[in-house]
Amino acid sequence: MSNKIIIAIDGTSSTGKSTLAKRISKKLNYKYIDSGAMYRALTYYAIHQKYISKNHFDKIKLINDIPYIYIDFRKNSTNNKYEVHLNGIPYENKIRSLAVSNLVSEIATVDELRQQMVRVQHTLGLKKGVIMDGRDIGTVVFPDAEIKFYLEATMELRAKRRFDELFQIDKNITYEEVLANIKLRDNQDTNRKHSPLKKAKDAILINTDNLTLDELELKLFNYINPLITKNL
Ligand code: DC
Repeated sequence: MSNKIIIAIDGTSSTGKSTLAKRISKKLNYKYIDSGAMYRALTYYAIHQKYISKNHFDKIKLINDIPYIYIDFRKNSTNNKYEVHLNGIPYENKIRSLAVSNLVSEIATVDELRQQMVRVQHTLGLKKGVIMDGRDIGTVVFPDAEIKFYLEATMELRAKRRFDELFQIDKNITYEEVLANIKLRDNQDTNRKHSPLKKAKDAILINTDNLTLDELELKLFNYINPLITKNL
C-alpha cells in the first residue's frame, strides 16, 4: 500500500521541473499540476482583454475581474493529462508563446491574483497524491509538503532547452530572445514583493546541468520512495 503525499518542485524556468514532474506523476499515478499554467492563463486573458501590453498594465481592471475568472484543471480524455481551463475553456495550447512568457512575471507580481491562485492550488492538494511545480509551492502553497525539491541549472543551458522546445512550434524564434526572456523572468520572479522565488529551507537542492532526465528521475525517486512506502 502506498502513502499519498504532496511533492513540491520549485525553481527558475526551464530547469526541467515540469518534465520531471510529469514523469513522476505518471509512475506514481499522481495528479500533476503545473501552477505556472495558471499564471499563464491569467496572462493570456489579460492580453486578450487589453489589460496588459509591453508598456501598459491596468492592474485594477484585472483585479476587478477576479470574481469572474474561474481557473481549474480538467483531464484531457485523449492524453489523460490535467490541463488548465479558464472559465471552462482549455487554454493549454495558447499559453506557451513568447508573447505570454514576456508578460507573465508582471502578472505574477499581483498579490490579489496570487491569493486566488493559491486558493485553487490548496483545493487541488486536499486529497494529496499531487505533484505541483512552480515558484512558491514549497514556501507558500504547501509549506508542509512531505517533500520539496528546488531545481537549478545555468541560465545558458536553460535558454537552450527552452529555445529547442519553442523552435519546434515557431521557426522565427531566436536563442537571444529566449535568453532575454529567461533573464527578465528570473529577475522579476526572484525580486518581487509577494511570494518571490526562493529555496525553502527544507527543500532538496538538485542541479540539473549534467544529468540526463533518467538520472534525474532516479535521483528524485531515491528521496520520494522511502516516504511513500513508510506506512506499510
Ligand atoms: O513555470 P512557468 O515558467 O510556466 O511559469 C510562468 C511564470 O508564472 C513564472 O515566470 C512566474 C509565474 N509563477 C509564479 O509566480 N508562481 C508559480 N507558482 C508558478 C509560476
